[in-house]
Amino acid sequence: MQERWLSLITSQSPTGLLIGGDIAERGGAIQWLQHLAQSTNCPIYFVLGNHDFYDQSVRITRQNVVRLCREHEHLHYLTDCAGIPLIDTSDRKPLAYLIGEDAWGDGTCGNFENSFVKLADFARILDFKSLTNEKRKELLQELGRHSAERLAAKLLSVPNNTNRLIVLTHVPPFVEACWYEGKTADENWSPYFVCGQTGVVLRNFAQANPNCQIVVLCGHTHHQGTTQPLSNLVVYTGASEIGHPSIAGSLVIQKHRMTTEMHSDRA
Ligand SMILES: [Fe+2]
Repeated sequence: MQERWLSLITSQSPTGLLIGGDIAERGGAIQWLQHLAQSTNCPIYFVLGNHDFYDQSVRITRQNVVRLCREHEHLHYLTDCAGIPLIDTSDRKPLAYLIGEDAWGDGTCGNFENSFVKLADFARILDFKSLTNEKRKELLQELGRHSAERLAAKLLSVPNNTNRLIVLTHVPPFVEACWYEGKTADENWSPYFVCGQTGVVLRNFAQANPNCQIVVLCGHTHHQGTTQPLSNLVVYTGASEIGHPSIAGSLVIQKHRMTTEMHSDRA
């Protein structure tokens, strides 16, 4: 655990933490989350990223993390949670609802077959080892479909009159949210860095619920950017640097206002 990062977090007295995945490798996310839960006094909402599954299988990793959350009341693995109301302490009414999904670069955007990108995921995540390129694509699409199906179910779990929704996910749901050095992903990178199937679910929900303001928070690309595909749907992609945990931004939710500020200077 990077103690400097931890003390920066605690010095800001947050009412909650949102962690967008790629926490650690080799099962290390468990130790990070345990230490974080023991060192802070606020709810910790998180999803997992592809690195969190390295040297393990997807199913076993998720099982271990779900079990951990049963032991720590502050830990909430959003992939395993229905919509969570974020309550205004003054009147006990929800200020917004929070949902989340790991998501995967699901091979549905860009040109998978001709991409030159070779992810370490395929050698490091047990489910992908020994698969042909064709089978890898099938598995990526299946993982993305499962994320999209769970996300759709979670959207149904929030009350009809919800007018603010926060969605935490690891993989950008749209090509236009897949930032790298100020540009969005091309045909080579999109298959692995965009979860097109969760994007379809989010876009459909936003179009069907024009009075609901939707904020999507994601990562995976390591580079920062913001995009607004629809008037009520905005996506913030947070920056990150391997081995240097940082605070990508802050979200302030008040009764009449909700603002997101991305931090360009990483902590
Ligand atoms: Fe990632």
